[in-house]
Amino acid sequence: SVRNSAGARGGDEHRPALLEALAGRRPTRTPVWFMRQAGRSLPEYRVLRAQAGASMLDACLRPELAALATVQPVRRHGVDAAVLFSDIMVPLRLAGVEVRIEPGVGPLLDTPVRDAAQVRRLVSRRYGEAERAGTGADGVALDGAAGVAAVEAAARGVVAELGIPERPADSAPGALSPRARAGLAESRGGAGWTPLLGFGGAPFTLVAYLAEGRPSRDHLAARTLMHADPDAWDRLMTWAAHLTGAFMATQVRAGAAAVQLFDSWAGVLPAADYREKVAPYSALALDVAREAVSPTTGRVAPAIHFATRAGHLLPELHRTGADAVGVDQCADLAQAGRQVGDRPVQGNLDPALLGAPWQVLARGVDACLEAGRAAPGHVFNLGHGVPPHTDPDVLTRVVARVHGSQSWERTA
Ligand code: CP3
Repeated sequence: SVRNSAGARGGDEHRPALLEALAGRRPTRTPVWFMRQAGRSLPEYRVLRAQAGASMLDACLRPELAALATVQPVRRHGVDAAVLFSDIMVPLRLAGVEVRIEPGVGPLLDTPVRDAAQVRRLVSRRYGEAERAGTGADGVALDGAAGVAAVEAAARGVVAELGIPERPADSAPGALSPRARAGLAESRGGAGWTPLLGFGGAPFTLVAYLAEGRPSRDHLAARTLMHADPDAWDRLMTWAAHLTGAFMATQVRAGAAAVQLFDSWAGVLPAADYREKVAPYSALALDVAREAVSPTTGRVAPAIHFATRAGHLLPELHRTGADAVGVDQCADLAQAGRQVGDRPVQGNLDPALLGAPWQVLARGVDACLEAGRAAPGHVFNLGHGVPPHTDPDVLTRVVARVHGSQSWERTA
């Protein structure tokens, strides 16, 4: 049987498919984007980074580089969303926390935050008030305010490049000609613009890195602090929620039309701990993000809440006030929609399939589309980020297959 008949079918042809799906409607074709679609799988990205010669976090604060890296996968694959080239660690830098990203390893801090005194020192730091947040393209040091301005400029550059809804500014010199715009609209399945997705790390995932100082399997340092010192935990998580919420709000004010909150490590938590000690702060982060209105849509940004290995947390994830829930390949996508209270779902093709023969991958894509039809809206994605060695042509082929299947029909 087909759930989404008549009314929900098609949606508004002129609104991007991503926004239609996040509103619980079924656009003509299922929207698709990939976590980590910008990055090492693209040769043009590797060229860009090598030319810049900047560290990952410095690269995020160079608006032209960041805007280009954001647009690259949209141009190449025809995905339905651009995701800002940045990192969940960027707002920590903008607040003056010494963090760097070690290639092949992940985020590293020299001084982990593990006790009440360290928490007290940390929470006195404010978003955008770092004395030194990074190094600009000219080699000159950027402070926190300049860093925030750089994130804004990057997002605005992407929006200018990927189109905004029809309005007078579109006929300004340098804007797309009507013919170019029509061509782009055609390639986007009718919608004249591609939305920019902003994002932030959920408080728990940020605190997991802060407490451990490096990537970890069980996040024991963070989980110990949670139980050992509830007051310090509350102060730290509240601070992280405001920080990441402000970072998302920056992106929305600069034109991001939707946001994703990444709780990459929430899956290690027992459900009761997640509910009582983590979910309220994720909800706070989303509230802070909703203080911003997107100039692109005139609305607050709908939010996708993503976590890995979080099958046991699905009902909790949607209660944080997210519009849609993103799941990894371990969750049953067909059941996820029901478990999150009939909200739209995002996911969940196993990234491992990207290296399998095409027939195997194609079957996986079709099964994912089929499972997504059980929810009121489906955004096709991987269960986690694009692996660095993925053949980019395979990703382009996946996008074409998703777009080639109508969102409300069963595949044979
Ligand atoms: O396309 C996109 O998704 C681009 C934006 C983006 C990046 N990081 C760019 C990036 C996003 C949304 C993130 C989120 C992020 N960063 C998360 C949450 C998502 C997840 O994967 O669970 C986390 C945990 C981080 C922290 C982080 N940053 C890690 C673990 C790494 C990998 C380190 C490595 O080399 O293995 C990074 C680096 C990073 N962030 C890269 C990119 C494109 C790779 C940098 C490069 O090699 O050029």
